[in-house]
Amino acid sequence: MITQILNAKDSIQQAASLIKRGELVVFPTETVYGLGANAFDENAVKKIFKAKGRPQDNPLIVHISDIGQVALLAREIPAEFYSLAEKFMPGPLTVILKKSDKVPYAVTAGGETVGIRMPDNKWARELIAASFPLAAPSANRSKHVSPTTALHVYEDLNGEIPLILDGGDCRVGIESTVLDLTSELPTVLRPGAVTSDMLLEILGEVCVGGKVIKVAKSPGMKYTHYAPTVETVCAENIVRAVAYYDLVADRGGKPVLVARDIYRDTVGDRAIISLGITAEDYARNIYNALRVAEKEYDCIIIEKLQGKGIAESVMNRVEKAAGGKLV
Ligand code: TXA
Ligand code: MG
Repeated sequence: MITQILNAKDSIQQAASLIKRGELVVFPTETVYGLGANAFDENAVKKIFKAKGRPQDNPLIVHISDIGQVALLAREIPAEFYSLAEKFMPGPLTVILKKSDKVPYAVTAGGETVGIRMPDNKWARELIAASFPLAAPSANRSKHVSPTTALHVYEDLNGEIPLILDGGDCRVGIESTVLDLTSELPTVLRPGAVTSDMLLEILGEVCVGGKVIKVAKSPGMKYTHYAPTVETVCAENIVRAVAYYDLVADRGGKPVLVARDIYRDTVGDRAIISLGITAEDYARNIYNALRVAEKEYDCIIIEKLQGKGIAESVMNRVEKAAGGKLV
């Protein structure tokens, strides 16, 4: 199959007709690129799992363009959902609700719940409005780093899909916050740019970080996600990062630092891929940096980010990329 990359702006109708014919289309969102299929078409949804080599037991998020579509997807819509929607939709928040009969089990991996999200990207919403709600995971090869540009998608899925809509770089850069509203207490299954503090403001209480929950319900949590193809470690601070760098270089390796651009004196002339200055910069740049790094180096040393909010969310991904290895 030939994979086309087209400008999102000019190609919504073409993409919508592919979706209506049961084909896959990659579309931009503010978090990462998504690999979409008509959420109501079981056969189309199955193609997603095949194209990215995704385990069948990992459910997909359904993307909507209008809050009214939730009634098609969910059996019950709790009041909290509307409060959250008012504040965070469109935006990087996925909410898990009980699924309606219209949602095929291929989407939910056999489960009775469905994740719903309204992306904050004009082209994504136009495509959905012109076709159907879209079941979509991140548009990477399963277990690889999520894509934040059309080129990242092409590198992973060339030949597997007919069309990538290019909408430029993703603004947020890490995947949405996943919040389960079907558990006794609202539970954060995956942290993201909508932080726990922001959710607390609306909900009053949430479960985060496995303190109350004993088993993570999000099946995706048990897989190593976001992993580069070369050795990757996280460094407690820049001094340790540099020390590990020199160790690797001494044993003949080719290391690279992935860090913010604020340590010129400590870093000296060692190889570095800059993540910008702020925590938001860090989130936006991290996945691209990992993809660049894995092509040219054999050991990636990532700076640990301190602090709360988006810093915590992005550290969740970095820990996974590093397989928990801290130096
Ligand atoms: O930002 C995002 O969420 C991106 C863009 C494309 O929207 N999508 C994304 O999808 O990251 P994916 O499939 O790569 O990650 C979805 C995560 C997985 O860990 C999955 O297990 C979890 O959400 N999930 C989806 N539906 C669920 C459900 N019904 N119950 C529990 N977890 C669910
Ligand atoms: Mg993913």
